[in-house]
Amino acid sequence: MNSNLRIACVTVGLPARGKTYIAQKVWRYLSWIGIHTKVFNVGDYRRKLAGSHVPHTFFDPHNSTGEAQRQEAADQALQDMIRFFEKDGGIVALYDATNSTLKRRKWILETLTKHDVDVLFIESICQEDEIIMRNIREVKLLSPDYVHVDPEVAAEDFKARIEHYRERYEPISEEEEKDISYIKLINVGHQFIINMIRGYLESKVIQFLMNLHIVPRKIYLSRHGESMYNVDGKLGGDSELSPRGQMYAQQLPELVRKHLGNQNLTVWTSTMKRTIATAKNLRYPKKTWKALDELDAGVCDGMTYEEIQEKYPEDFANRDEDKFNYRYRGGESYRDVVLRLEPVVMELERQENILIVGHQAILRCLHAYFFHDKHEELPYIKIPLHTLIELTPRAYACEEKRYPLNIAAVDTHRPKPKSSSSSSSHLTPTSIGINSRSTNAGASGEIVTAPMSPILPISPQLFPNIHTATAGV
Ligand code: ATP
Ligand code: F6P
Repeated sequence: MNSNLRIACVTVGLPARGKTYIAQKVWRYLSWIGIHTKVFNVGDYRRKLAGSHVPHTFFDPHNSTGEAQRQEAADQALQDMIRFFEKDGGIVALYDATNSTLKRRKWILETLTKHDVDVLFIESICQEDEIIMRNIREVKLLSPDYVHVDPEVAAEDFKARIEHYRERYEPISEEEEKDISYIKLINVGHQFIINMIRGYLESKVIQFLMNLHIVPRKIYLSRHGESMYNVDGKLGGDSELSPRGQMYAQQLPELVRKHLGNQNLTVWTSTMKRTIATAKNLRYPKKTWKALDELDAGVCDGMTYEEIQEKYPEDFANRDEDKFNYRYRGGESYRDVVLRLEPVVMELERQENILIVGHQAILRCLHAYFFHDKHEELPYIKIPLHTLIELTPRAYACEEKRYPLNIAAVDTHRPKPKSSSSSSSHLTPTSIGINSRSTNAGASGEIVTAPMSPILPISPQLFPNIHTATAGV
């Protein structure tokens, strides 16, 4: 049955081929657009069963103890994955392991098919030694497998591990596995082979995978300079920059140059006057996106928060209860904005250095994509005016630095009211062990690594009907 209601994306490939990277990216992307997704990393199960510091001989296919423990780890992960589909309402799971033999893949396919789960295999093939060596140096040596191990010794051990896998590796066969769904990613985006893709979700994942690259790059986010509406405390509109906003527009090019140097950059703005005016002095290619326009406040456009509270008190309270899902009358919710930003994110994955000159709500949604911010926290992320935010994507996470300019501006961040029930997280958190996120540490631009927050699926949340007090702007 190909209902496409539940999909397991199963990675295939030798070690250090980017399988975990791919699984993490797909997980982050699908969770962000509201699809309940979880990663099952068989390496984590193997470490629990056999300990972290097993030598390469553990992976030797002639080592029957190692073979048995690896199969046991694979089985435990698969059973947990089935539970995720059947008990936790999971929609997409990523089964992250080498799955490098036909026998293993047949076992996965048969087991999952019995549970009405469709399977999409994602095989990463990379023949470029330079990339493999870089992956080993930059990522594998930092894995829990090699804590306190001399880097030279660890690199040799990891290369020996790859050779053990190579001995039994059977790439997906275009003949024998012709009826299964798969994508082969060859040499990081140089070639793709796609077979038997069924349904909307699978094609979304495929489209996303085809946009990924691993070229180091920066993504900059900046709100427009302070606008006249900001000064008046009004929402939305299409107002001009204030005199202080104009100063920011003048000084932004120097700030960007200071951090980016002479590298290429493309600047994206919304179609609104304030972002276009802010980007005016940036001497880089520019692109204007309607999808980057600010969250549409509908009938409240042009009003202050106080005016909304007075004219639409119920709406105002409802927004405080569940700001992510609240949709302005005749306008949008944050959830709507996430969905309209999806093509922007797809294109962002394809590109190299990008500066987005955007708006408060828009940049909150984009920030959540990179940092897996919980949906209930997303609408409260602080994105101050007159600050350049620099994101550096890393293997399994993203780093953030903030560079504020010394030009005063109003604070448009309205904090979450203390009594709002939406601060309680009652959805099942999904966590993974290997990720980290880097958060802003303030004006210094210094970064701090903190544990990744659990993710919550986008699903309408029911909150008790508590009347909340409202805080000022
Ligand atoms: P293992 O089997 O040991 O778990 P893995 O295949 O999961 O290894 P990762 O841990 O994902 O490998 O390796 C991360 C590195 O792979 C990152 O540095 C990333 O830049 C790189 N990478 C991402 N995509 C690809 C790809 N398609 N081919 C090769 N390398 C890639
Ligand atoms: O106040 C500036 C602004 O960009 C408004 O135009 C927009 O409605 C608002 O921020 C979004 O922030 P919040 O969702 O916190 O009201």
